[in-house]
Amino acid sequence: MFKNFWYALAFSDEITETPSRHRILSQDLVLWRGPGGEVRALSDTCVHRGGRLSQGKVEDDTITCPYHGWGFGSDGACTVIPANGRGRPVSKRARVDSYPVDEQYGWVWVFMGDIPEEERVPIPDLSFMDDPKWRAIRGEWLWNANYERVVENGTDQSHTPFVHGGVFGDPKAPPVEEFEVEVGEWWARLTVEQRSPNKPAGKLSQLLPNSRAYKEEPPPVLVRTAFFFPSVVMIDLTIPKIGRQIIWDTNIPVDENTTLTKYIAYRDFYKSAWADRIAKKMVEKVFAQDDYVVTEIRPELIPDEMAGELHLRSDQMSLEFRRIREKAVEKGYSVLGSAEGTKTSKTIIASPYRREAGLENAWVLPATPEGVRAL
Ligand code: FES
Ligand SMILES: [Fe+2]
Repeated sequence: MFKNFWYALAFSDEITETPSRHRILSQDLVLWRGPGGEVRALSDTCVHRGGRLSQGKVEDDTITCPYHGWGFGSDGACTVIPANGRGRPVSKRARVDSYPVDEQYGWVWVFMGDIPEEERVPIPDLSFMDDPKWRAIRGEWLWNANYERVVENGTDQSHTPFVHGGVFGDPKAPPVEEFEVEVGEWWARLTVEQRSPNKPAGKLSQLLPNSRAYKEEPPPVLVRTAFFFPSVVMIDLTIPKIGRQIIWDTNIPVDENTTLTKYIAYRDFYKSAWADRIAKKMVEKVFAQDDYVVTEIRPELIPDEMAGELHLRSDQMSLEFRRIREKAVEKGYSVLGSAEGTKTSKTIIASPYRREAGLENAWVLPATPEGVRAL
C-alpha cells in the first residue's frame, strides 16, 4: 500500500460536525467538519491509552477522547488534560497525527503522508462532474481483496467477455483489437472499441448498447478506461445512439486484503428517476461479477517482480499500473500494511506535522515502516 497520495475517502455529505470513523492503510481516522465547514482528519487512536476519538464529542473544533477526556485540536495537538488539573503544561508528546484535507467534486480527499505540498501528486482532474447535464447514482462495494487487484480489474479489457458476457462484452468476440494507451506520470488511459452481444439481456439491457434502440447488430461501444495511481479508476463508455456513461470510483485500501470502493455513475441519457434503479442494479451486477473472480485471485497481492505473472499485449494497462507502482516504491512511498482484517496496526502513517521543527520527537506511535509486504 502507498502513503504520500491523496485518497478520496468519503462523499462530502457523509462528513458532518459529528465525528465519523474511516479506515485506510490499516489505520483508523476520525473526520469531522469544523465551524467554517472545513473537514478535519486525525488519527483515531488516542496516544494516552488508545481510546477512540471517533467515539468522542466535538466542541469548538476540539475533539474529546471518550476515555479520560483529553481534548485534541484540529492540528492534532492536545490542549486539555483534565486529570492534570489547572496550570500544568501539556506535554508536546500529547498529540495525534493530523492530515491535510481537500474537498473536490463532492468528495473529501485526505492526504495520507508527510511530504511537502510541492511534492504531492495533484488530485486527478474530475471536473467533468461539474457539468449539470449528468444524472448520477452512487454507491459502495466492499471487497475481500487487495485494492491493487481491484484497480487492475477496473481497467482490464480482456476479462469483459468472460466475466461480464451478457451484460457487456461479447463472449463470441474476445480478441482485444486495436487499442491505444496514453500514459501520464501517475495515470494511464486505454481507448478501445468493444463489441457487445446482440441479444438483449433482460431489463438491464435498457441501459446498454444491446438495447431495443437497435434493431440490428449494435454498433461497437467506445470504451475508455483510466487509472490514476494509486486508487482511482474511471470507465467511460460512449454508446452510439444512446449516450455516454462515466463510472468513476475510489478504491480505498482499507488494509492489505480489504478494499472499499465508492463509485459515482454518471449518464447523459434516460435521466429520469426510474432509470436510477436500473443503473444501480447494473453497476452492482458488474461489481458482483468481478467480485466472484477478484476475491479468489492468488497471490492476493500483485507480485513484486514484473516477471511474477505472464503479460500479454492486451495487458498493457496493468503493466503501466505496475510500472507506476514500481516508481512509487522507488520513491519510498510504499508502506507495510496489516492483513488482519479488523485489527488496527500499531503504527501510524506519518503526517506533515512530523516534519515540523521541534516536533521530531513528539510522536508516541511509530510511523508505519516502508515496505511492500503485508505485516
Ligand atoms: S485514552 Fe484518550 S484520554 Fe485516555
Ligand atoms: Fe470487470
